[in-house]
Amino acid sequence: THQWRGVIEEYRDRLPVTDDTPVVTLREGGTPLVPAQVLSERTGCEVHLKVEGANPTGSFKDRGMTMAISRAKQEGAQAVICASTGNTSASAAAYAVRAGMVCAVLVPQGKIALGKMGQALVHGARILQVDGNFDDCLALARGLADNYPVALVNSVNPVRIEGQKTAAFEIVDMLGDAPDIHVLPVGNAGNITAYWKGYTEYADASAGDGAHASRRPRMWGFQASGSAPIVRGEPVKDPRTIATAIRIGNPASWESAEAARDESGGFIDEVTDRQILAAYRLLAAQEGVFVEPASAASVAGLLKAAEQGKVDPGQKIVCTVTGNGLKDPDWAVQGAPQPVVVPVDADAAAERLGLV
Ligand code: F0G
Repeated sequence: THQWRGVIEEYRDRLPVTDDTPVVTLREGGTPLVPAQVLSERTGCEVHLKVEGANPTGSFKDRGMTMAISRAKQEGAQAVICASTGNTSASAAAYAVRAGMVCAVLVPQGKIALGKMGQALVHGARILQVDGNFDDCLALARGLADNYPVALVNSVNPVRIEGQKTAAFEIVDMLGDAPDIHVLPVGNAGNITAYWKGYTEYADASAGDGAHASRRPRMWGFQASGSAPIVRGEPVKDPRTIATAIRIGNPASWESAEAARDESGGFIDEVTDRQILAAYRLLAAQEGVFVEPASAASVAGLLKAAEQGKVDPGQKIVCTVTGNGLKDPDWAVQGAPQPVVVPVDADAAAERLGLV
């Protein structure tokens, strides 16, 4: 009877923890790497989806949060704070419960998905809606952490990045080597930074022990067109996109995202909301994987690159899909026909189902 122990226990020797670190975990990580048949056919490549919506609170944030909350607890913090477009706050709220801490949350007013708000509420976080965007929330959270007894658990806290890099370890462990290309949505740019760190550390370690050295992938990041500061080369004052998770105009990890892009020989591009929603529907209807809209930016980006002839066939490609579709189901329901009502009658049901 062995179950996955969570990212700290599974990768303890590669993370900044000691024997004295209290491990606060919901057994995050160990998420499925799912072969994507339709995407593979479309690109002529071997495409896999790293399904991060399978984490305990439904997003990749749990990998970083187990580290951030464990270390905050070790340092004696009684309260944590984060700014969030929804997923960080859902994760912080849950892990704070496990640690017996107060969780304070700052979200942009009216701009986070209902499921994520529900998570923060049900886990008992103290939530403020800020009359501003995510970037304003993050500035406010930093100021509060500087001046009050509360630990900041956004990805500007470096231990968050440490936890999130474990996703790259898992991919190399499962594939036996790094993929040729890794594709990610980019918001605050912590995750692309974390994956690059993870791939680099694994490559360095395997080069050292004489075994065949694992390579590093090219990193391809995609922002939403209305919120694409890295693509534009300047902050976006009023970021817009239906993918609220990545509605960010001034990413905190901007420079390290550019470093990941440049050191890997990759690129950071944009996808429109229309392309995001098309990929969102393709993933659900043709791959059986239900993600939230922001997550589909990676797949939308891969399809855009393929159409532009940037994807040579025969490569191994991993797309991270970052969050669970149940967090923001409005987009699944919107525009879909309302299921018809039938009496309790097999003939009527069979007819309506097209079985006769
Ligand atoms: N996908 C989802 C589902 C996210 O929630 C986020 C970020 C990203 C992608 C982008 O990752 O910021 O590391 O580049 N969500 C943060 C939050 C901002 O507050 O939950 P990133």
